[in-house]
Amino acid sequence: MSRRAIITIKALLHVLCLIPFAWLLHFYTSGALALNADPVNYITHFTGDWAIYLLLASLAITPLRRLSPKIAWLIRLRRLVGLYAFFYATLHLATYIFLFSGYDLPTVLGSIRAGHPGVIVAEWKVVWPNILDDLLKRRFIQVGFFAWVILLALAVTSPAFIMRAIGGKNWQRLHRLVYVAAGAAVIHFWWLVKTGVRTPWKVTAVLTVLLLARLAYTTLKRLRTPDQSRTLTTQTTKS
Ligand code: HEM
Repeated sequence: MSRRAIITIKALLHVLCLIPFAWLLHFYTSGALALNADPVNYITHFTGDWAIYLLLASLAITPLRRLSPKIAWLIRLRRLVGLYAFFYATLHLATYIFLFSGYDLPTVLGSIRAGHPGVIVAEWKVVWPNILDDLLKRRFIQVGFFAWVILLALAVTSPAFIMRAIGGKNWQRLHRLVYVAAGAAVIHFWWLVKTGVRTPWKVTAVLTVLLLARLAYTTLKRLRTPDQSRTLTTQTTKS
């Protein structure tokens, strides 16, 4: 795949990944969102859904590109999709902080315009105890926050210069945490739905298939590649 083709595909991918965000903005600016029974709940669920879909999509790239050497270039799109998963997860967190938890955003924006930026902190002081209380008491918030912190660490360390600085092997080890983040996000989903609701089963099924594919690949690789440490030990014993 030529460099030019990759650039074009990446540009298309940016557009594709931004469509949900553009749709949400349009939904809000057209006034349609306000007609929804619970707009804040709608945005929370919308951003949460897209964060998990893109996270799973980024994980799916690894086994997909192994299907044929012809599509090995897919790996060059993984970082982009992962960063968009983080983008929607951060929007989701921002929705929780600024809309869900009672942060009075219209008042704050009005006060900033009137030249009173201090309201940003004052309002934060009002909602902070509620957020902390949620974080301490609600396990679905704890596991969601855990997933987001991992995604943050992966996003910050994703540039190539950081990979070079910490070394390819260490970088790979760190970035395997994406599976932990996906697992935590799925648990977050199960823990927030009411007992008996089975909505998260689809994302759970997708993650299970991806984890099994990963396990199968690692096992096959180990079986095919002779254990280097064992080979070394045998050689040392012989000499
Ligand atoms: C940063 C910490 C996070 C917080 C505070 C948080 C908070 C929430 C809240 C309050 C809800 C709605 C619960 C309800 O309906 O009562 C929710 C739903 C959801 N969240 Fe999170 N979340 C976080 C992180 C994440 C992450 C990292 C992901 C995915 C990568 C995620 C995916 C979801 C999904 C899929 C839903 C359900 C959407 C649906 O029902 O359609 N959340 N979250």
